[in-house]
Order: sequence, then C-alpha cells, then structure tokens
Amino acid sequence: MRPVELKKDIYWVGAVDFDIRNFHHYSRAPEGSTYNCYLVCDEKTVLFDTVDAHGYGEMVKHIAEICDPESIDYIVCNHLEPDHSGALPRLVKLCKPEKIFCSAMGLKSMTNLYDTEGWPIEVVKDGARLNIGRRNITFLETRMLHWPDSMVSYLEEDRVLISNDAFGQNIASSYRFADECDRSLLLSSMKRYYYNIVLPYSPQVLKTLKRVQDLGIAIDVIAPDHGLIFRTPEDVQFVISSYKEFAEQKPKLRAVIAYESMWNGTAKMASAVADGLEAEGVPYVLINLQQAHCSDVMAELADSGALILGSATRNNMPMVNMMACIAHVKGLRPQNLVGAAFGTYGWSGEAPKMMADALAEMKAEVVGEPLKCYFNPKAEDLAKCRTLGAEVARALKEKCQNAM
Ligand code: FEO
Repeated sequence: MRPVELKKDIYWVGAVDFDIRNFHHYSRAPEGSTYNCYLVCDEKTVLFDTVDAHGYGEMVKHIAEICDPESIDYIVCNHLEPDHSGALPRLVKLCKPEKIFCSAMGLKSMTNLYDTEGWPIEVVKDGARLNIGRRNITFLETRMLHWPDSMVSYLEEDRVLISNDAFGQNIASSYRFADECDRSLLLSSMKRYYYNIVLPYSPQVLKTLKRVQDLGIAIDVIAPDHGLIFRTPEDVQFVISSYKEFAEQKPKLRAVIAYESMWNGTAKMASAVADGLEAEGVPYVLINLQQAHCSDVMAELADSGALILGSATRNNMPMVNMMACIAHVKGLRPQNLVGAAFGTYGWSGEAPKMMADALAEMKAEVVGEPLKCYFNPKAEDLAKCRTLGAEVARALKEKCQNAM
C-alpha cells in the first residue's frame, strides 16, 4: 500500500484493515474497513485525523513516504472515537506538534481517553477558519453526526471536504477512490454503514446537507475517514443524494422477515409468511438470526419498508438472537415501517406479543394480531401465516402509494 495524492499536496496516508469483520463490536463489516487520514503539505504540515492504534505503523510509513513524520505541525482531530484517535498518543510523542485542533466536545473525549498533559490542544468553534499557508481550512461542527464531538474540515481552495465518519463505508481495498469500485458493492456498503451507524441521526444529516447547500460550499472531493473517496462530480453528487435518500427513509416495497427458530416450527411459519408476501407481489428477504447477525437485518432494511419478526418462545420471551436483534434495531430508530410478529411455542407463547410490542415502540404500523402457533405448525396455522404475509403486503403497498 502506498500514500495516494487526492489533489496537489493532499495525500491519503491511512491504514487498510483487511481483517476486521466486527466493526465497533456491533456491526458486521464483510468487506473489512479502512481508517483514513489525510496529510496536507503547505507552509504548515497538517494531518487530519489519525487511525486505529494498530494502524499506527502503516500510517507513519505512509507519511514518511511524503515527509518526515516529525515535521507535522498540526493535527486536526475531527472526532475522537479510538478508530480515529488510537494512534494519536504515539504520534504526538513522535512529532511533538505545534497544535492539536478539536471541537469543545472533542477536548472532553481527548482528555478522557488519553494522558494529554502538555499537549498543545486548541479548541475550534463551529465555523472557525485556520490559515496554513496557501490554504484556509474551515471547521464545521456536525454534532451527533454521529457523536457530540464530531466535526468536518473543509479545505476551501481545494474544495475538499474531510468528512470524518459521514459518507463512510466499510471497504478494505487496494484502491482508494469510489470510481474504482464496483458500483453495487459501493452502494451496499454505504447502506450497511448508514443503517447500522448513522441512521438515528438522520434529522442531523438532513440539516447538515441543507446547511452545506445554504452556505454554497462547493465540493470537488469528499474524503471520509472510512472507505473510498469520492473525487468525481458524479460521485460527489451520488453520495450526497444517497445520504438524502437514506435519511428520508421513504417506505420501500420489500419486506424483511427476521426469525429465530428452535425446532424448525418458526422457520416453517416464516416461509409461509413469505409465501403470503409473494402472492401479493411483494419481494422479501428471509433472515435466519441463528446464521446471520442483527446488523444484517439493518442492512436489508435499507431497501425494505416492512419488518416481520418471528421467534419461538423460550423461557417466556423471544430467543436470545431475536432479543439482540430487537435491541439493535430499536436503538437505530428506523422510521416508516410496517410490522408483524409470529412464532411457535411449547408452553406459553409470549414471544409474538413481545415482538409486536417492540415494533409498536418503534412506531411501526403493526399489522394483524401477533400470530402464535403450538410447537409444530399444521396446515391451518400455515394458512394463517400466509394471510398475515398478504396483510403486511397490502399495508405496505398502501404506505408506499401514500408516500409517492
Ligand atoms: Fe469511525 Fe465514530 O468512528
């Protein structure tokens, strides 16, 4: 891997993680990830963000191909989660920077995470400008996009937006630019990332996009801290319009059936619910939570307007993977869903109602009564499942129609 020049004297010098599959310990990353940071060589040499602690060596190797790492004057910390700041303490020790810039909330995180005694930290306010020679940098706070400390850095003369976590995707690759990547892989990675990380902050996304538009900020390059960089006008437009679409969460004519079965009865019910959807012409995806991860459910919800949950009842509640799935999905606050619940039981059968209640708490439009079936579903039970699937399909079609 080599450093890559985005624009004259602006370089990607990050680290690529081909191994990671468990991003932030809550979301699967089937394509690995990258920790991007950017070196700008001007009268001042400035590094924007660092990398995860284990990527320190790779980052310093990349910087050394451009300049002496000890010559770095400024470090900008747009966000302090350790995937962007883990390498900071060793780097500060190495280059003894003149200044380290962060937001007010960034200072709180930085001093909590690291021993910052003697560090030359300077807090920048929203809209603050910094001259580094031929270039001016504007810092824009993007609070709760996705942390309280988050900000982005805009290189005015180069029209480069270093966007930190915003516009990221988890892709490890030998190439650095979105236009070098297969389009469907890029889009599916963007959706997985957005729906598992950024989704609850969709109102802030829409607000930030409007603010950027109102400020008339011209952008040639969007350089996120994870994944590929958007450098063509088409790709810049593509990622911005994709984010707007993700944030709006308009209903989509497709259903996710996520289920967890114990003795295969709930799996049979799931299949029959799918048949009901199919009969009404609504596409679906079946997700067996004993094989898939709850973050896969969110990735699929990016293209779906219905979430149907199925679980056997075990010890008076849904099974554990379903419980984890509910916690994950609920925290991400998906909007505009149609929902339904079903499951088998051997003793009492509380799970379907509990799942329906969870969907209602997510403000989903819950269709039908929670459907429970004793142990091994018979023909009449499966007929009820098909009816439930068809009811969800009709409700979803209406919702989509109304949203047009
Ligand atoms: Fe990429 Fe919020 O960490």
